[in-house]
Amino acid sequence: MQENFVLVTGATGGLGRRTVRELVRRGVPVVVGGRRRDTVEALTAEVAAAGVGCLPFVADLADLASVRRGLEELGDVRLRGLVANAGMNSRRDARTADGFEINFGVNVLAHQLVLWSLRDHLEPGARVVVLSSGVHEPDNMLARRAGIPAPTWMGARNLALPDDAEPGRRIEAGTVRYSTSKLASVLQARGLQAHFRDTGRDVDVFAVDPGLMVDTGLGREIPRWLQPPLRALGYALTPFVANMRLSGTSARSMVSLLLDDGWHGRGFQYLDGLRPKDPSPDAMRDELATELWTQSAELVGITVPRLR
Ligand SMILES: NC(=O)c1ccc[n+]([C@@H]2O[C@H](COP(=O)([O-])OP(=O)(O)OC[C@H]3O[C@@H](n4cnc5c(N)ncnc54)[C@H](OP(=O)(O)O)[C@@H]3O)[C@@H](O)[C@H]2O)c1
Repeated sequence: MQENFVLVTGATGGLGRRTVRELVRRGVPVVVGGRRRDTVEALTAEVAAAGVGCLPFVADLADLASVRRGLEELGDVRLRGLVANAGMNSRRDARTADGFEINFGVNVLAHQLVLWSLRDHLEPGARVVVLSSGVHEPDNMLARRAGIPAPTWMGARNLALPDDAEPGRRIEAGTVRYSTSKLASVLQARGLQAHFRDTGRDVDVFAVDPGLMVDTGLGREIPRWLQPPLRALGYALTPFVANMRLSGTSARSMVSLLLDDGWHGRGFQYLDGLRPKDPSPDAMRDELATELWTQSAELVGITVPRLR
């Protein structure tokens, strides 16, 4: 019998690596996604040594040609789960190889290509988990205290290509570009769930806020000298602050969403860890989900049916 895998993007660091290790502990075959072949191979070797099936998915999400090559190399894999986890929180006004704003390009657009390309590889009962964040919620005080402002939706095309945006439709702060990309992640999950509903597919799509995790590499752009004291403070606060978690805790939640029967058939949910909650009002606007679905497809060069 063919094995069914769980594919995790961004598996070589932080939450993704924790999730892979937790899946392997439960004997679940994994596809290890990462941008560098050497780090992907190091992890696939670790998984293989544990006697669990493993395949590499080498793709730099800041370069769609690399994503297409990685998908081609991956071939015809059967999936019981897909975790769109890779992400970056960059304050730099940088562009991907395809000219997209870097946070939106990596966190959203590249994943749109991956999710669409692998949709028919998902087995009945499969789960898709898209990593969002509480930073997309306008009333999330922890995010505001951590210095990440609420999102500003400017339209998918303007977010992807800010250099072409009409005046006033460009986000200047990198922190807002990040929080807005995480609003887009919820809209992306909703669009994909709507597509599966339209096509009668038995696949659940979740958008997850894993909580503020101080033990991952997401804050890598914080000045080096500031990282150790901030991390120490974060470890001290984590047990006492709701919505702060270590990545091991979040990884166990992810694995529950991917594997446990209780989550099957729920349809779209936004979760804080394992607690279903309402995403932001913007994230529930159907016209924004449809806009992202249509415009992201055009931007990454795929053809998608209209959402009904
Ligand atoms: N940490 C938090 O507090 C927090 C809170 C809410 C949501 N999240 C979300 O959780 C997810 C995981 O973040 P994390 O905290 O585990 O961060 P992390 O430790 O920085 O891990 C991010 C992963 O994404 C990969 N990645 C980044 N750019 C990539 C690219 N161009 N191509 C392919 N892979 C790329 C990284 O690869 P390398 O290993 O090669 O660097 C790494 O494996 C992200 O989507 C993040 O937005 C995190």
